Amino acid sequence: APAALAELLLSRIREVPDHPQPGVRFKDITPLLADPAAFTALTDALAAFCSEHGATKVVGLEARGFILAAPVAVRAGVGFVPVRKAGKLPGATLSQSYELEYGSAEMEIHAEDLAAGDRVLVIDDVLATGGTAEAALRLIRRSGARVAGLAVLMELGFLPGRERVLPALDGAPYQALLTV
Ligand code: PRP
Repeated sequence: APAALAELLLSRIREVPDHPQPGVRFKDITPLLADPAAFTALTDALAAFCSEHGATKVVGLEARGFILAAPVAVRAGVGFVPVRKAGKLPGATLSQSYELEYGSAEMEIHAEDLAAGDRVLVIDDVLATGGTAEAALRLIRRSGARVAGLAVLMELGFLPGRERVLPALDGAPYQALLTV
């Protein structure tokens, strides 16, 4: 991101020591969401990425990804589709499980909300191990739609998330507005 935008966004992210467990410095985005100038600047930057790459749908990843992705979809004039944790969506879903450090998790999407001609931008707040984003990218491909790209507010640079998602992107663009 341009230096002024990155500086604004970074200044509104609060580090919470030892959350959710000792030794973890949690990156809390609630101050950014509470600041209309910062939230608008973030939304505008992501909506520009969306339009630039011709996305026709925005997918947000539960739960914080929803907060960032929904206003981007409205701003860019495209539809919003949620990728949810397993068991929450009422209709016919596609499910994708993925490995966590300990155990596994599962994400779901309503397949009928994406059409074969859609180009889908995935948005989330944080890319950590990349497992969640990779699962979302797989769900989009399995639905028959195309991946327009992946955009996150923050990449945790000390984890190999980028290496994990690049193959699933298969050449589609990736943007992290901040690397922390
Ligand atoms: C966090 C974050 C991303 C994901 C990143 O979500 O919002 O979605 O983890 O981690 P990964 O790259 O290692 O997969 P979390 O599961 O905490 O859910 P929440 O947003 O519902 O709190």
